Amino acid sequence: MENLRIPGPTPVPDEVLQAMAKPMINHRGPEFARILEDVTAKLKQLFQTKGDVFLLTGSGTGGLEAAIVNTLSPGDKVLSVTVGVFGERFASIAEQFGAEVIPLRFEWGKATDADAIRRALQVEPKIKAVLVTHNETSTGVTNDLASISSVVKEFDKLLVVDAISSLGSIELPVDDWHCDVVVTGSQKGWMAPPGLAMVSVSQEAWQAHSTARMPRFYWDFTKAKKYLETGQTPWTPVLSIVFALAVSLEMMLKEGLPSIIARHARVAKAARDGVKSLGLSLFADEKYASNTVTAVAASDGLDIKKMRKILSEEHKIVLSGGQQSLDGKIFRIGHLGWVTEDDIKAVISALKVVLPQAGFRK
Ligand SMILES: Cc1ncc(COP(=O)(O)O)c(C=O)c1O
Repeated sequence: MENLRIPGPTPVPDEVLQAMAKPMINHRGPEFARILEDVTAKLKQLFQTKGDVFLLTGSGTGGLEAAIVNTLSPGDKVLSVTVGVFGERFASIAEQFGAEVIPLRFEWGKATDADAIRRALQVEPKIKAVLVTHNETSTGVTNDLASISSVVKEFDKLLVVDAISSLGSIELPVDDWHCDVVVTGSQKGWMAPPGLAMVSVSQEAWQAHSTARMPRFYWDFTKAKKYLETGQTPWTPVLSIVFALAVSLEMMLKEGLPSIIARHARVAKAARDGVKSLGLSLFADEKYASNTVTAVAASDGLDIKKMRKILSEEHKIVLSGGQQSLDGKIFRIGHLGWVTEDDIKAVISALKVVLPQAGFRK
C-alpha cells in the first residue's frame, strides 16, 4: 500500500473501508434513520456545537456553495478574507451567486491579520458576512480563527468558515468561537473517503437563512432540516460513505478529540522538524504553520516534479505539489486523519534519499 501523504483524500483505516462493503439499505427506512441520528450526534460532539449539523452528499466545495446560498442574497456585501487558493474559491462562489465581494487578501504563506478585518468592517458597515478559510490547504497556513471571530462578532456579522481541512484535526470549538456556518469534508481529517460535506448552522445563520434569496434547490438547509427530523436526507445520500463515517466517527470519539488534536500537533511538528533537518525551508509563516498540511518551499535546485515522481515510483510515497501560482514552487505533505509520526518519519527518510536525485544541492 502506498503512503498517501496528500492533504486529502487521506488514508482510510481497514475497519472503515470494510463498512463500505455493507449492502445497500432503504434510505427512507428505520435502519438509515438510526445511522443518520447516530452520525449527526457524533458530528455535533466533534464540531463542539449544539446547533444543527447536516450531511450533504457532495464534496467540500458543495458544502461551501451551500453555506453561501443559504445565508445570502444577491447584492449582499461580503468580506472575503483570503490567504490562498481555497479562500479565492470561496469568494468566487459568492460572486457567482451575485454577492458583492469585498476582497481582503494576504500574501500566500502568511496568515490573516484580525486587525485588518476590523478596519475593513469599519470602512464598510453594510457588510453582512465574513468568509474565512480556517486552514488554507494550498499554503499550509492556519488562521487564528478565535481572534478573527471576536472581531467579526464585535460588528455582529455572520461568520462563514471553510474548515474543510481543519475540523476534527485542529481545535475549532464551533459554538465557543461563534462560527455561524462551518463546512468540512469527509475525505480530510475524518478518515473516510470523499463524498460528504458536513455543515453546521447556528441560530444566527438560520435568521440569515430566513431572508436569504440566493437560488438554491439541492443545498437548501430548510429541506435538510425538515428531512433530518424524520431521519432522512432530502435526496438519496451517498450511503456507503455514511456507513464509513459511522465507523470512523466511533474511532475518533474513542481516541477523544483532545488526543486527536494533540496527535496532529505532534505529527505536524515531526514534519516541520524533519523537512528543516534536510535543509529545506517551510513555505508558511511558522507561527501559523498548519497541523494538517506542511508546505515546503523549493530551493537549491530542487525539481519538485522529479522528486514527487521518484518518491511515488520508487518509495510508494505520494506528496502534493503546489496549486496555481505555487506550481513548481512548493510541495505539500498531508498529515491529517489516520496518521502517525511513523508515517512522517518514512516520508523524511525517503526525502533524504530522493532530494539529491531531484537536483537538491545544499
Ligand atoms: C480548505 C479547502 N477548501 C475547499 C476544498 C475543496 O474541497 P473539495 O475538493 O472536497 O470540493 C479543499 C480541498 O482540498 C480544501 O482543503
